[in-house]
Amino acid sequence: MERIAVYPGSFDPITNGHVDIVRRSLQVFDAVVIAMAHDADKAAPLFSPTERVAMIHEVFRDEPRVRAESFHGLLVDYVSRVGARVIVRGLRAVADFEYEFQMTMMNRHLDPRIETIFMMTSESHFYTSSRLVREVAGLGGRVDGLVPDPVVHRLRERLAAK
Ligand code: PNS
Repeated sequence: MERIAVYPGSFDPITNGHVDIVRRSLQVFDAVVIAMAHDADKAAPLFSPTERVAMIHEVFRDEPRVRAESFHGLLVDYVSRVGARVIVRGLRAVADFEYEFQMTMMNRHLDPRIETIFMMTSESHFYTSSRLVREVAGLGGRVDGLVPDPVVHRLRERLAAK
C-alpha cells in the first residue's frame, strides 16, 4: 500500500523551508500531497490560491511523487479523502511549538485515526517564513535563496505591479 503524507499550509508563497520539508518527507513516504488551505481567516493573501498551487507545481515539476492542490474545509476531512493517514508539519524554532501543538490536538480530536508528525527544517531555513519573505520582498530586500527561483520571479512581478 502506498504511504501518502499530506503536507498542509498556506504557502503564500512556498519557501525553501517548505521545499526542504517535502524533500525530507519523500525519504519516508512514497508520495507527498501538498495541500494549500483556502483559509477564511487569512486576510489579503499576496498570491491567489491558483497562483500558489501553480508555483508549487512549477517547483516540483520534475518530482512525480509530489502532488499539489488546494482544499476547502477541515484538513482532517481532506486527508481522509486523499486516502492518507499522516499529516506532516515542519518545525523551526521552539516558538512554533505552541501553535503546532494546538493544531495537532484539535485534529486528533476531530479524527483520532490521523497522526501528525513533525520534521525539523535544515538550520539554513530556521529563520525563513512566508510572512517574512512577503515583508522583506515588499520592502525591496533580497529573498534569493529563501524561496525557489520561480517564486523570486513571481514576487518581483507581483511587487512591481503594486
Ligand atoms: O502554513 P500555515 O498557515 O501555518 O498552515 C495552517 C493550516 C493551513 C495547516 C491550518 O490553518 C489548517 O489546517 N487549515 C484548514 C482548516 C482546519 O482544518 N482547521 C482546523 C485545524 S486545527
